Amino acid sequence: MLELQLMSDEQKMLAGSHGRATQKAMQILVALGKIYSARRMIPVTSVQIAGVSYDNLGEAGLQFLAEMAEGGGKVLVPTTLNPAGMDIANWQELGIPADFAQKQLQVLEAYSRMGVSTTCTCTPYLTGNMPAPGEHLAWSESSAVCYANSVLGACTNREGGPSALAAALTGRTPEYGMHIAENRKPTLTFRVEAPLDGTSDFGALGKLIGDRIETSKAVPFILGVHSASPDQLKSFSASLATYGGAALFHMQGITPETSQYTPPDESIILSQVDLAVASTSLNDTLSRQVDFVSLGCPHLSIQEISRVAHLLAGQHVRKEFWLTTARATKRLSDKLGYTEIIEDAGVKFAADTCCVVAPIRGRFQAMATDSAKACYYASARHKFKTVFLPFDDVVRLALQ
Ligand code: F3S
Repeated sequence: MLELQLMSDEQKMLAGSHGRATQKAMQILVALGKIYSARRMIPVTSVQIAGVSYDNLGEAGLQFLAEMAEGGGKVLVPTTLNPAGMDIANWQELGIPADFAQKQLQVLEAYSRMGVSTTCTCTPYLTGNMPAPGEHLAWSESSAVCYANSVLGACTNREGGPSALAAALTGRTPEYGMHIAENRKPTLTFRVEAPLDGTSDFGALGKLIGDRIETSKAVPFILGVHSASPDQLKSFSASLATYGGAALFHMQGITPETSQYTPPDESIILSQVDLAVASTSLNDTLSRQVDFVSLGCPHLSIQEISRVAHLLAGQHVRKEFWLTTARATKRLSDKLGYTEIIEDAGVKFAADTCCVVAPIRGRFQAMATDSAKACYYASARHKFKTVFLPFDDVVRLALQ
């Protein structure tokens, strides 16, 4: 078997001549490269790091980051973060405990000392980091990884927090998985014979296909989807990654790599009934039980925020309602006047964070959302019941 070969600058990093943190980072990458039989390291153009919420990291994670920062670690490529456990500016209003906030700020400070932009979002492609087809990245967030590989045609494995940080500090990642063309070929065809309307239908489709590939880890080639907006593809990517563990799909006429392939012979038909069953399976309570409403998994685009403002203008919600989005998108919303309309309606912006990584376990009974991914984690992580609805219906439910 051929061994992992390092270039001379990579060998120097490993030997410690770029400092302790870079040495540790290269050790992590070499270990990963050996596990996956990589033959070399390749440069990456951007990094997105998960493992930001103190709720996930805990004291051990914070300690690791502090040591890397003290060890002189500095990122070599543009690097952003996944959502943190709280809105950095507005955490008190969202009911985040002060001791949690203090720890969360320490996490962000450690990243900041290493030169990481503390932009906390799972949709870096909506806030200025739009990789070109064929670019190699080291991104962590599963929905963003699936979107980047599939919709943008970039190449990234789903990195863990430490391996993403290691890529940022060295500018490298081991070449394996999604970085190799052979591994990007579709292996199973899905024929969608159902009309799709809105983010929730795309989320349900992601669950449907995800459930079918969870064990085989097939790369889906999807036929029969005639149009899909970026917001719908964002929802689909999140759901497919959650339920199927997928990092890549091809959708004929929609995603950029499909012209390179013919649909695999083995094919599965997905009917309208299948889609309805997948949607229904995400509901485990009645709308009247809902005491928490959340939109923004993955983080809302400015178009989605505009839609919420349009639906809420002049009205007032009757339930706790969070909109989760990137700080940059929230700023744009402020400038365009949407924030004022939405906050006047009693809705809270939760920028920098999301309803899954915030420490809200057990705080609510039942959550309404348009996100199939949010349903999965709200149930598994927070023990909430879930009501899965189309986007506009989620807003309308908050008004009841
Ligand atoms: Fe993003 Fe949080 Fe959903 S990280 S994809 S909003 S679970």
